[in-house]
Amino acid sequence: MKILFRSNRLCLRFINKNYSTAPKSLATVNVNGKEYRTDDYTNITPKITSYINRNLHLKKDNPLSLVRQRIVNYFYGSFTHGGNPSFSVYDNLSPIVTSRQNFDDLLIPEDHPSRAKSDCYYINSSTLLRAHMTAHQSELLRAGLDNFLMIGDVYRRDEIDSTHFPVFHQVDAVRLQRKHDLFENHPDLDIFEPSFDPWNPHAYTNSISNPTKQSCHTLEATKLMEAQLKNHLIGMVKVLFGDDIKYRWVDAYFPFTHPSWELEIYYENDWMEVLGCGIMRNEILANAGPNNSIAYAFGLGLERLAMALYKIPDIRLMWSTDSGFLSQFQNKDVNASIEYKPVSSYPQCTNDLSFWLPPTLTIDSFMSNDFYDLVRDIGGDVVEQVKLKDKFVHPKTKKHSLCYSIVYRHLERTLTQAEVNKIHDEIARATVNAFNVVIR
Ligand code: PHE
Repeated sequence: MKILFRSNRLCLRFINKNYSTAPKSLATVNVNGKEYRTDDYTNITPKITSYINRNLHLKKDNPLSLVRQRIVNYFYGSFTHGGNPSFSVYDNLSPIVTSRQNFDDLLIPEDHPSRAKSDCYYINSSTLLRAHMTAHQSELLRAGLDNFLMIGDVYRRDEIDSTHFPVFHQVDAVRLQRKHDLFENHPDLDIFEPSFDPWNPHAYTNSISNPTKQSCHTLEATKLMEAQLKNHLIGMVKVLFGDDIKYRWVDAYFPFTHPSWELEIYYENDWMEVLGCGIMRNEILANAGPNNSIAYAFGLGLERLAMALYKIPDIRLMWSTDSGFLSQFQNKDVNASIEYKPVSSYPQCTNDLSFWLPPTLTIDSFMSNDFYDLVRDIGGDVVEQVKLKDKFVHPKTKKHSLCYSIVYRHLERTLTQAEVNKIHDEIARATVNAFNVVIR
């Protein structure tokens, strides 16, 4: 569940080999009851499609919805306007978005690694499952909103282990201030530098080369927004984890905010990243309408918070429909302190899969996310983890070989070795078909 938009992410865009279970001959794919044309970007799988509409963040017995409600309550309670909450909540927005919403509107460059097919679930080159809730920022600003939370499921291709799942949930927010809100007591101060005219088309070109502020903003406006943003977020973390929680701010980079930070809390003897945030790039506001204001934005992942708060050891448990799991969160006050007790832990089964890559592929160009998707598609949720165990280049033939360990475990019962072998054989067959490898 790593925050996605790091500047140091490896760019995999040009070596991607697409794996998709959707038959290539079909020109359309059905997602959530609607037909979409497919193209060479299509990599959404039936397994991933099946998670759309599960809406865990809205299911009242799910730990994710408890955390979500605590965050919403904090924002409702802390910010009111004439007795009404000033934040509005959008938790019902379709996860199918355009690449304009997910990337272009947010100033994410054409060649940014977060656009890669190896990282996103594309329906086709212009449509994908949102990779972050920030994808809805511009449309809600265009609708005239100024304080809002966007809550929902997001989709990212990733490795498989106890803290990663290709679908997770985020809360994203925007808080926008106009001059008279921000400088209520200082009418002499301004949001924009005197040389900057927000009504001029130049509002769309704004430098971020200075690390402390955007060129259009005054230092006072930036600092005041930064102070508000940090106070509001520390308030939220204290409501969740208690007043004594240790935290620190880390400078960060996101294409859609400047300056940007990450908030980390000290949890179980280590620093844990909780959220990304920053002052919204003025170009986004100017494009979406309110060009006489300044705003902050943040985004956080609910799974990580829920796992820490309730001591839930495995992210797959969030998807459990087992009453042994859900009953622990049922009919609870949202603020109750709950510690998850494992219903029982069933044994793991580990099987290895070794294969020779075809001459066209090397250990470095083999797309492991494609392989993980295939494993997940066939093995489903009983796949607990896939680990790269060994890589090898034959000294004579120069052929490349990889060995993965696949760990199987059912969360609610014991799997038999025979059952596991059957799934494992199926994965081996599908790997041969999809990647042209030879099993060793
Ligand atoms: N969208 C970012 C992510 O998913 C989080 C973020 C939201 C950062 C808003 C800054 C502002 O990683």
